[in-house]
Amino acid sequence: MEQHRNRLNELREQAFQGGGEKRMEAQHAKGKLTARERLNLLLDPDSFEELGMLVKHRSTNFGLDKQQFLGDGVVTGYGRIHGRLVYVFSQDFTVLGGSLAEAHAKKICRVMDLAMKNGAPLIGLNDSGGARIQEGVVSLGGYADIFYRNVRASGVIPQLSAILGPCAGGAVYSPALTDFIFMAEGTSYMFVTGPNVVKTVTHEEVTSEELGGAKTHASKSGVTHFTASNEAQVIQHIKDVLSFLPQNCEEDPAALPYTPGDEVRPALDEVIPESAQQPYDIREVVEQICDSGTFTEVQKDYAENIVCGFARLGGKSVGVVANQPAFLAGVLDNNASIKAARFVRTCDAFNVPLLVLEDVPGFLPGTDQEWNGIITNGAKLLYAFSEATVPRITVITRKAYGGAYDVMNSQHIGADLVYAWPTAEIAVMGAKGAAEIIFKREIAASDDPDATWREKEAEYAELFAHPYNAAARGYVDEVILPHNTRAKLIRAFEMLKNKVDTLPRKKHGNLPL
Ligand code: HXC
Repeated sequence: MEQHRNRLNELREQAFQGGGEKRMEAQHAKGKLTARERLNLLLDPDSFEELGMLVKHRSTNFGLDKQQFLGDGVVTGYGRIHGRLVYVFSQDFTVLGGSLAEAHAKKICRVMDLAMKNGAPLIGLNDSGGARIQEGVVSLGGYADIFYRNVRASGVIPQLSAILGPCAGGAVYSPALTDFIFMAEGTSYMFVTGPNVVKTVTHEEVTSEELGGAKTHASKSGVTHFTASNEAQVIQHIKDVLSFLPQNCEEDPAALPYTPGDEVRPALDEVIPESAQQPYDIREVVEQICDSGTFTEVQKDYAENIVCGFARLGGKSVGVVANQPAFLAGVLDNNASIKAARFVRTCDAFNVPLLVLEDVPGFLPGTDQEWNGIITNGAKLLYAFSEATVPRITVITRKAYGGAYDVMNSQHIGADLVYAWPTAEIAVMGAKGAAEIIFKREIAASDDPDATWREKEAEYAELFAHPYNAAARGYVDEVILPHNTRAKLIRAFEMLKNKVDTLPRKKHGNLPL
């Protein structure tokens, strides 16, 4: 036995070496951790069970037979995060640049299959030079095997992708097919074609960082959902996000213990400014309504006119979608519609109830918006809310104008409850614009057009710049004082916790993509 044990230990030791000490030093010098160091940070101590540690590639092309590394550039297996089972893969850049080919891909597919069969989240830590050039088409096949599984697993188990180094070419599409992307600032980048190809084709000069770094994808493209200044923080974000999600679509997210007593929030009575034209930060409302310090914002720097994120309310996980009056007055535009629609669908897929805070002056007008498809994109949000079967509650804090009133989780499209603050204005549009249109002739014929306009504006405001018309129709279930909002919502979500709602039988809906 001694002899067998020694042999096994030797092989294990060899696998732990990855691409060797020098390459590990180079990895550290770039401010990056190694594949195993990352897993140590991610998983509960002593919980990692590695699979396929001794896997080798079979290629002899271009001298690859002389470059054998046990594990073939990816560490795979399962472990626990706060006691919960997760499946993981962590690409090892020190082995052939973390490049992916037949054996590497098979290892990833294996943990994906196990994750699906056992209903547990999959977390991928990506750090790879892409398709292993020496192995040719089998690398491409390997990617496609992964993409196919990503799609099959979508909406069944949570899939989370961290980008901790290069992620280029077709390799970007696996993370893009997962639920959340996390990027490390300064050390990671994602693009379909790199700066050299860009220069050749479009003559643009751009660095990797500008083209596809974490900040670019956080603010310009919206590709990444979370960024952090170092890898340890990226890994902490992964754990935080996972805590709001269930193991799979058949389960509910775990609730944390909650001690009642802090429901009344007087600060909320002071939030809405005197003038409807004045902005305020909706995040302050979210912070007051939800359990303190639990709000975890998604795509924070992208389409800032809508705020999306997870929080806890009375210990339970909720997805918050809130118009942001402090940015572009909280209008709905193309990017905000797409961002919110995606978040609503993610929450619905994983049984996370939805809380909508509404203060929206309407859709943003303009050629840019129309030509870039605000019709289709606005429809995405309408579709996402209408289709969602999780408990969903709307609180109208101020403006609920026009089509945006319908879209932002109105009762008409299936909200379970709609509350309004007394400051709510529920109308086709603001009083000023409305008066200008419906009293156009009177204003034009008047000796004092401005005075007539103001008079008509006041008339319209009297009729609609409040929640009581909508409440009279029953479109608003209750007008509540802001300081009571948290208490009302905790009770209401508790009341809705056993909600059952099913969609008509179909193959799948046809989301306006
Ligand atoms: C094989 C690779 C590799 C690859 C890197 N290496 N990328 N080996 N296939 N794709 C190896 C290098 O030879 C080197 O080996 C080690 O990894 C580290 O690479 P360096 O270049 O020294 O590192 P660095 O300077 O940090 O640059 C990283 C890099 C660069 C930017 C990723 O290596 C690079 O541009 N690689 C090629 C990227 C690429 O074109 N990939 C294919 C994309 S197309 P040694 O032995 O020196 O340590 C694609 C299609 C997928 O992925 C399609 C799916 C549909």
